[in-house]
Amino acid sequence: MYDYLIVGAGLFGAVFAYEAGRRGKTCLVIDKRDHIGGNVYTEEIEGIQVHKYGAHIFHTNSQTIWDYVNRFAEFNRYTNSPIANYKGEIYNLPFNMNTFNKLWGVASPKEARQKIEEQRLAAGITEPQNLEEQAISLVGTDIYEKLIKGYTEKQWGRSARELPSFIIKRLPVRFTYDNNYFNDRYQGIPVGGYRAIIEKMLAGADIELNVDFFAARDELMQRAKKVVYTGMIDQYYNYRYGVLEYRSLHFETKVLDESNFQGNAVVNYTDRETPYTRIIEHKHFEFGTQDKTVITEEYPKEWKPGDEPYYPINNEKNNEIYQKYKALADAERDVIFGGRLATYKYYDMHQVIGAALTAVEREFEEK
Ligand code: FDA
Repeated sequence: MYDYLIVGAGLFGAVFAYEAGRRGKTCLVIDKRDHIGGNVYTEEIEGIQVHKYGAHIFHTNSQTIWDYVNRFAEFNRYTNSPIANYKGEIYNLPFNMNTFNKLWGVASPKEARQKIEEQRLAAGITEPQNLEEQAISLVGTDIYEKLIKGYTEKQWGRSARELPSFIIKRLPVRFTYDNNYFNDRYQGIPVGGYRAIIEKMLAGADIELNVDFFAARDELMQRAKKVVYTGMIDQYYNYRYGVLEYRSLHFETKVLDESNFQGNAVVNYTDRETPYTRIIEHKHFEFGTQDKTVITEEYPKEWKPGDEPYYPINNEKNNEIYQKYKALADAERDVIFGGRLATYKYYDMHQVIGAALTAVEREFEEK
């Protein structure tokens, strides 16, 4: 009998398994997919680490988390500097002096601020009623029209005027010539891909792939004293309070017979007409020099049960339903719920590692 059955070989499950193993506990890790790593999984194609479930750039402000992941991998110096392609016009992201210079020809922060302020005032919005008004009241009409509107409408599958304003509370606007997307102290991509990190974390555990927890729930639960569950919480409770909703994505990956397709790892297509939101060219995450290249087009998609759940829709209705499931989960004695699906929360990688380490401390009563 194992000490823990861990449902899900993603980052949460892997960190938990590693830490439990260090404390002399035995773990059986199962995953319904045919690989470990969950959504951070990278697969090698043409010598390039391909981010199979969307671009994953590690970033954190926490020294502790950074030191922790560096035990499992060496990180390269990749700095996320996405660009926007609006009908062939190229702009730097996040919105910064390079963007403003290209848009308006302004060179100084003062001129850029004035321009934004003029547009904000001209729009005359005092109490934004929807996402469009919110965005315009934050950054003015030009940035909204070229860089926000189309992208957001594709992302959410509806008009920006029908979307609630709370989706964008803030927008990253920077009055320096700095194209670094993240403000965090540390960032990079693991050399050898994320799979190598997860392999190291899971080295001491037994792993069974292509196993869906719900196909043999009772049997599986009898194989361990406790369960760490990182799947969807509503499914665990057989959807008794209703289905939690997500946005989904569809990825189209292509190998191209050229060495450099777009000159950058991430290019966002911010017009409404291009059906995908962005193209990832994976080799640029690792400064690859291969003869071929691999690109992935990312298409946002309406989610329906059975589809891959990517982004939780944390609106009032879903959050209320989640709270009911959470109350059930909190009352469980031998099941630990963790990770993005079991807590119905968008987590970045550093956050999910932090959450797993907290769960470990709680479980082993170390704090
Ligand atoms: P994850 O989903 O990875 O793992 C859960 C595992 O459980 C899966 O492998 C699943 O198959 C398995 N499972 C579920 N139900 C099961 C069942 N019934 N039986 C057996 N197995 C089951 N973060 C970041 O820091 N930088 C970034 O750039 C990005 N980029 C990014 C892009 C996109 C498109 C998304 C959606 C997310 C990101 N992230 C990110 C976030 C990152 O993906 C996230 O933090 C981790 O993958 C979360 O790890 P978990 O272990 O919680 O879930």
